[in-house]
Amino acid sequence: MIVPSIQKALLLKSKFGEFSVDERPVPRPGPEQILVKIKSAGLNPVDWKVQKYGVFVDKFPAVIGSDIAGDIVAVGPGVKQWAEGDKVFLQGIYRDGSNYAAFQQFVIGKCSLTAKIPENISYDEAAVIPVGIACSFIGLYHEHPHGLGITHPKKGGQGKYTGIPFLVLGGSTSVGQLVIQLAKFSGFSPIITTASPKHNGLLKSLGATDIIDRNIPLSSLPDEINKITDMPIKLVFDTVSIADTQKAGFRVLAPGGKIAVNQQPAIESTEDKDVIFVMGVPNLPHNVEFLKDLYNVLTEWLREGIVKPNKVDILPGGLSGIIHGLERLENGQVSAEKLVARPQETI
Ligand SMILES: NC(=O)c1ccc[n+]([C@@H]2O[C@H](COP(=O)([O-])OP(=O)(O)OC[C@H]3O[C@@H](n4cnc5c(N)ncnc54)[C@H](OP(=O)(O)O)[C@@H]3O)[C@@H](O)[C@H]2O)c1
Repeated sequence: MIVPSIQKALLLKSKFGEFSVDERPVPRPGPEQILVKIKSAGLNPVDWKVQKYGVFVDKFPAVIGSDIAGDIVAVGPGVKQWAEGDKVFLQGIYRDGSNYAAFQQFVIGKCSLTAKIPENISYDEAAVIPVGIACSFIGLYHEHPHGLGITHPKKGGQGKYTGIPFLVLGGSTSVGQLVIQLAKFSGFSPIITTASPKHNGLLKSLGATDIIDRNIPLSSLPDEINKITDMPIKLVFDTVSIADTQKAGFRVLAPGGKIAVNQQPAIESTEDKDVIFVMGVPNLPHNVEFLKDLYNVLTEWLREGIVKPNKVDILPGGLSGIIHGLERLENGQVSAEKLVARPQETI
């Protein structure tokens, strides 16, 4: 394909500023890099937080967005493992310049943190995977202090944890749905989660064994869990991670237990309970090598249905549709699904 020199992008004009669709150059890939024509870009809560709280990005105008699926249209010098025409998905980053973020038509990716989209998965479905799976995979399998330190399924951990309970707070979040699936693959049982009852069928199909209504007062969480198991709860993943859920998860944790949270911790480790702050950010030094293990198995996991993508809701208008999509995310109007934009359909 002849790669254009100019593309459309959703630009955040300044810190706390407005988004608007504009033009910017199409970057060229360097060594160890690929250039991807983005077919689908997934939205994440962090995207509206960047605008509202002025966090993570300091250079403007900026392109943000992290969930990407598309076609490779060029490879950098010396790149052998990827070729033009490969259908791939990858996690964008926006701490390192706009060329690496999702809300545009072309993006630079890193060869080793890219996976092939299997035949049974669409671009839209692939685009909902990267951020959620990075957070889940790191939170579960990375060593202390980055994750809960569970043995990776490919390193002897598959099915290893039968009979050990696992609690996922917020099973219907994008991250929660993936954590449940990986916890099932690791063998945990029971897998207990909190969610609206309308999601029971979905979450059971993913591997949750017991679902506690998320509308009950969190103070009754220990009693609800006691009705399900008398085993001590030593592992909790709070995928909601507002202060209240963090505190509730910490309370149910037995001595020697660990809780993973994926927002700024509102609780502190004590002598006998550990709080792990999970950061699914691929360019953090401790994640770069670790995530290669994930990208090596992701295509197979999707092909075999070990990991199933969240339900997708396509936003109209290409990149312009992201602005309203972010408002819906901020207002809590996204329920057990992932919003996806198609940048090539930008008017
Ligand atoms: N650190 C990291 O690497 C990382 C990575 C990804 C996400 N995150 C953070 O993790 C959080 C979740 O992100 P996400 O994309 O997974 O979320 P999401 O899919 O947008 O979450 C929406 C879902 O959360 C459920 N929910 C909301 N409050 C809940 C509660 N109190 N208890 C149980 N369920 C609740 C909603 O349930 P209903 O359907 O019942 O309304 C809805 O289904 C965000 O704060 C995000 O910034 C962090």
